[in-house]
Amino acid sequence: MERAELYQLHWPNPVVPLSSTMAGMRDAQEAGLVDEIGVSNFGLERWRQADSALQAPVISNQVPYNLLQRTAERDLIPFAQAEDRLILAYSPLAQGLLSGRYTQENLPGGLRRANKLFIPGNIRRAQPVLEALREIAAAHRVTPAQIALAWTVRLGRVASIPGAKSVWQLEQNAEAADINLSMDEIQVLDLVSRTFEPLTRIRSIAEFGLRLISR
Ligand SMILES: NC(=O)c1ccc[n+]([C@@H]2O[C@H](COP(=O)([O-])OP(=O)(O)OC[C@H]3O[C@@H](n4cnc5c(N)ncnc54)[C@H](OP(=O)(O)O)[C@@H]3O)[C@@H](O)[C@H]2O)c1
Repeated sequence: MERAELYQLHWPNPVVPLSSTMAGMRDAQEAGLVDEIGVSNFGLERWRQADSALQAPVISNQVPYNLLQRTAERDLIPFAQAEDRLILAYSPLAQGLLSGRYTQENLPGGLRRANKLFIPGNIRRAQPVLEALREIAAAHRVTPAQIALAWTVRLGRVASIPGAKSVWQLEQNAEAADINLSMDEIQVLDLVSRTFEPLTRIRSIAEFGLRLISR
């Protein structure tokens, strides 16, 4: 019989109580179908509730984490470090924005159009981060995307799960695990990324309107 090492709940379900979901997860563990249970997109309080409902540690939480989205640092990563859990950083390349390939004139299509990070104003605001990535990448003779990935795993108890559209990207992403960033490089990336304040879609439309009026 196949056994999954980790079974993760994708999103909190507003209709199905956690007690019921976690009882099912426990059954799956007891039946020998899965080793560990994880969640995704859970805040800390809900993660703790999941522990209580499972009556055991919920080992991982898969959340967005990259240089432009650092909310997980507030309490999820400290919790994972203190309690021996794991954060799985999804969208570690900010859906490709941190590769430096996209500009206000060259936006990706598809679902990424709905991601507020790809609002032209936010691509502009991300430039200091992209510049720092380019500079550090040149020093290591790797790509900005690889430096962005290496940054996500600089802390203990964080693993990164980048998406890849080609074998080349897959190999590059795997190789990023071998990059060691210096303390100075980490500090530079921390500093520039902390200055990034994304525009909301509404603010971006308002700013665009103001620019038109002031022309
Ligand atoms: N749990 C959840 O709710 C949730 C939500 C979202 C995602 N995820 C998971 O997280 C994983 C990755 O997240 P994601 O795909 O959203 O974002 P991501 O890993 O930040 O970005 C992936 C995109 O970046 C580009 N890319 C990848 N490697 C690259 C490289 N080495 N150099 C340059 N560009 C590169 C590719 O797009 P282009 O080449 O087209 O630019 C690729 O599709 C996926 O496995 C996904 O299932 C989970």
